Amino acid sequence: MIGSGYVGLVSSACFADVGNDVLCYDVDARKIAILERGEVPIHEPGLPELIARNRAAGRLQFTTDAAAAVAHGAVQFIAVGTPADEDGSADLKHVVAAARTIGRHMPESRLVVDKSTVPVGTADAVRHAIADELATRGAVIPFTVVSNPEFLKEGAAIDDFTRPDRVVIGSDDAEATRTMRMLYAPFQRNHERLIVMDVRSAELTKYAANAMLATRISFMNEIANLAERLGADIEQVRRGIGSDPRIGFHFLYPGLGYGGSCFPKDVKAIIRTAANVGVDLDVLAAVERVNEAQKRVLVEKIVRRFGADLSGRRFAVWGLAFKPNTDDMREAPSRVLISELLRRGAAVAVYDPAAMTEAQRVFGREPNLIYAASPLAAADGADALAIVTEWKEFRSPDFETLRARLKQPVIFDGRNLYEPADIRRLGFEHYPIGRQGADA
Ligand SMILES: NC(=O)c1ccc[n+]([C@@H]2O[C@H](COP(=O)([O-])OP(=O)(O)OC[C@H]3O[C@@H](n4cnc5c(N)ncnc54)[C@H](O)[C@@H]3O)[C@@H](O)[C@H]2O)c1
Repeated sequence: MIGSGYVGLVSSACFADVGNDVLCYDVDARKIAILERGEVPIHEPGLPELIARNRAAGRLQFTTDAAAAVAHGAVQFIAVGTPADEDGSADLKHVVAAARTIGRHMPESRLVVDKSTVPVGTADAVRHAIADELATRGAVIPFTVVSNPEFLKEGAAIDDFTRPDRVVIGSDDAEATRTMRMLYAPFQRNHERLIVMDVRSAELTKYAANAMLATRISFMNEIANLAERLGADIEQVRRGIGSDPRIGFHFLYPGLGYGGSCFPKDVKAIIRTAANVGVDLDVLAAVERVNEAQKRVLVEKIVRRFGADLSGRRFAVWGLAFKPNTDDMREAPSRVLISELLRRGAAVAVYDPAAMTEAQRVFGREPNLIYAASPLAAADGADALAIVTEWKEFRSPDFETLRARLKQPVIFDGRNLYEPADIRRLGFEHYPIGRQGADA
């Protein structure tokens, strides 16, 4: 497994757990050292236990030795990062570097699997990079490249991997397809969910899936903002439309916009891919615009309530990760809110059940930023509480104590955790998204 991040680690541990012998390789020596100490560098429920069990059984190992990694496996997964480049396109430098690593070291035939999210045509680039390295070595060794985009969700990654809705394989080689089918068979004993297609369609499938999900989020956010202005309640609207099976209830929650390591960069990348072939993706351009605006919705509500100059004010922020059950803060709405509050002179006390270390890495030492030890400690003396991530432990706090600890009982509820009528009755001034709050 080349790349030991969220996808690489989860895939490796799950493959090892069904009996495969997996060697995880990464260029990040710090990460590999953490794993070799028996610790896990990311927060993912169930992953530490899974890794420990398979390490103990000798089926899962870690290395920074590229040659050893390529020598180890007949199947080489590429699961490295594909961040957005400056123009929005997917930056393939890590993928190409991984391919070159394989070409440089492969002792015999290899099946190379692109698991990273990569634009259409990348399998060809991987093939060229490997062939180029082989030519440099003067070696003639056969190899095959297939696409196997990953659909796991951070926070539920192990369940998604071991009980997949579908496994997409892009392959034009029957032998490679057979190998992939065998690798995934243990996770689909009940009925096979392998969808085999050509490589380009597989590459596009991953982007289309993320683009569709991002579209649902921006759509709901736009309707939520409209509901607020029209005196309607987005929660009731959500129930009203979700009950239509053509629409469904999944992924219809309004909030502060999508973030994380995938949707933002993948929406940008597909727009860029389309532009390269002269196609404008108008819907997705709007999805992105709406999302950028939505990340600022809480700031706007706060400014309307407290004024543009927030010096002397103090705010509590509950939730830093881009979603619950992860410590991932890439493109998280919390970053926009916190930066903006600090810029306007406020002090901000933050709390997250998993992302405190990550937050310190992201924000560093800021005189006005307080890393609180608990939700209530963050709330102490704050003019208002802003809820940014819908962690379970924020759903039913001791409201009386919370009210007592806040300087003013004001809640900006960016995830609609509380029922407006109930929370009002408890003495709070409540500002939800798309519902009738104190600013209605
Ligand atoms: N995180 C998710 O939820 C998720 C879900 C589905 C698909 N994906 C896709 O999977 C890919 C990986 O995502 P991630 O979140 O695991 O990224 P990540 O940043 O957590 O991990 C990537 C790892 O690759 C390593 N790496 C970079 N270049 C390398 C090289 N040349 N050789 C070896 N290791 C190298 C990095 O050091 C890092 O540890 C991306 O394309 C992403 O879009 C991610």
